[in-house]
Amino acid sequence: MCGIVGYIGPKEIVSVLLGGLEKLEYRGYDSSGIACVLEKEGCAKLVSVKEKGKLISLKGKLAKTKGVSGHLGIGHTRWATHGAPSTENAHPHGDCTGKFFLVHNGIIENYAELKRELIRKGHRFSSETDTEVAVHLIEEYYNGNVLEAFRKAIRRMNGFFAFVMITAHEPGKLFAFKRSNPLVIGIGAGENFVASDVPALLAHTRRVIYLDDNELAVVEKDKVSVLQLESGKPLRKEISVIKWDTRQAEKEGYPHFMLKEIYEQPHVIETTLKALMKSRRVLFENINASVEKRLKKIQRVHFVSCGTAYHAGLVGGYMVEKCVRLSPRTAVSSEFRYENPAINENDLIILITQSGETADTLAALREGKARGALTLAIVNVVGSTIAREADCVIYTHAGPEIGVASTKAYLAQLMVLALFSVYFGQLRGALPAKRANGFMKDFLKLPSQVREVLKQEKVILRCAQQLYQKRNFLYLGRGFNFPNALEGALKLKEISYAHAHGYPAGEMKHGPIALIDQTQPVICLAPFSCTYEKMISNIEEIRARKGIVISIASRGDGEIQKLSHYVFYVPQTEEMISPILTVIPLQLFAYHIACLNDRDVDQPRNLAKSVTVE
Ligand code: G6P
Repeated sequence: MCGIVGYIGPKEIVSVLLGGLEKLEYRGYDSSGIACVLEKEGCAKLVSVKEKGKLISLKGKLAKTKGVSGHLGIGHTRWATHGAPSTENAHPHGDCTGKFFLVHNGIIENYAELKRELIRKGHRFSSETDTEVAVHLIEEYYNGNVLEAFRKAIRRMNGFFAFVMITAHEPGKLFAFKRSNPLVIGIGAGENFVASDVPALLAHTRRVIYLDDNELAVVEKDKVSVLQLESGKPLRKEISVIKWDTRQAEKEGYPHFMLKEIYEQPHVIETTLKALMKSRRVLFENINASVEKRLKKIQRVHFVSCGTAYHAGLVGGYMVEKCVRLSPRTAVSSEFRYENPAINENDLIILITQSGETADTLAALREGKARGALTLAIVNVVGSTIAREADCVIYTHAGPEIGVASTKAYLAQLMVLALFSVYFGQLRGALPAKRANGFMKDFLKLPSQVREVLKQEKVILRCAQQLYQKRNFLYLGRGFNFPNALEGALKLKEISYAHAHGYPAGEMKHGPIALIDQTQPVICLAPFSCTYEKMISNIEEIRARKGIVISIASRGDGEIQKLSHYVFYVPQTEEMISPILTVIPLQLFAYHIACLNDRDVDQPRNLAKSVTVE
């Protein structure tokens, strides 16, 4: 969480920093700020402007503030951890002398102890944040050498953090550091950048250096030096070239990123299939012969992830059970990492993550690796920490996802999981070639089937217009579609703030049925499947209690219409991949309910897209 940017070069600082922060607002948006170096008559002075609320509030304040300009500076957009969202707690934070300003993403775990020590030494604090400790510590250690003070201060701090700092003592430099939280350096011509994520750089450059953990960088306008924190040794870093299309990070006429991303889904499925399927065979570039050898011997499979990616993990569990005949376990990362998991080299841990930076998932990966398990990451953001640290990675090819509520990344995760399950089943001799071929044919139909589901938007909107004032929704599903009941409920909660609950339909009689009366909407995932009849019985039970039934059903199912107040149809497909289709009406339903309630769809309150704190 939190987005950070830094710039040095000939361009006017305010617009570069604000442009970068705009692209990072998905990482947090409760306050923001910038600081820059003003050079007057050979003398450098630092100025900072901060404001509570979204970036637009900071822009308003900057428009009224005179004298903020220059060619070197840092910026920050915040998701509060320590200290309420307020102007005082917004970054950048300065030291007592006003000669150092710093932005931070992460948590300094021993900040309270360090703060007490610094207060004893006479430092004056003006915020409740852990961040401010870092800048006072640098001030404390400064003895004529900024880099040494920066290094020494970082070595006193425990936790996970990325920093970018400017100082009036050495005004031609940005000082950056990364541990666990991401930091990318953008390489330009006569200018350089630092940012939490690539979209903040794309308007200026596609050449980047990914910092690894415990690396420190000194960024000047025509030079970047990277060194190891402990030894201080200079490091040679590779420059990577980003291939993303910049248009992917724009709304392109859609009112929200979320809607645009929902509509990108046919293309996402096409791209993922193109990248991972060659002549009707699944091909994973990153899975080499030695990984295959290990995969053949694996005894247990664990899916570990958070949020929407956790729901993908649940679907993945059903898929692996079907194709590989192993009984997988699915866990949320924050549970897995602390449960002293009984795993060893016979275990495969599949980490699913859009951002590749989620703190709990990263910790679970490290935990698994330390115990000798084979780790496979399914990641969207190329070059992210989890992608780099896992034993092997499969990318989801969804392109940048900006809307906080995940849509296209989820679909791509499900597609990769289906492909992986077929591959894994064949590798272990559990899935006959004929069956695998059948799946491949079904996969190839998906892009056009996804397009067909999107055509239902008007029907879904009409239903949302009838129900948008309801405050409680129940979602039911079975088997492969049970995780989508959870996902549909999560989407609605996240962006509309209505209460929504997902449940396995067979469990309805053990509790949720008590909720049902004529006011209760129940969304029933009921495509044709081996549990279809059971879902119909559940729908009958809801009808008998006068509940409002909204069904997601297979095209051609005329019967369900008679039992439901509203039906959203999806094309018939193999049960295992039906969640790829049935989730789309749920995304559109949540989207329209949120819009009708006038919610901030792309940036819902209290949430952030990339959760880099525990
Ligand atoms: C946040 C996002 C969710 C996402 C989850 C896991 O909660 O708002 O959309 O599913 O983090 O993120 P990851 O990047 O690991 O998939």
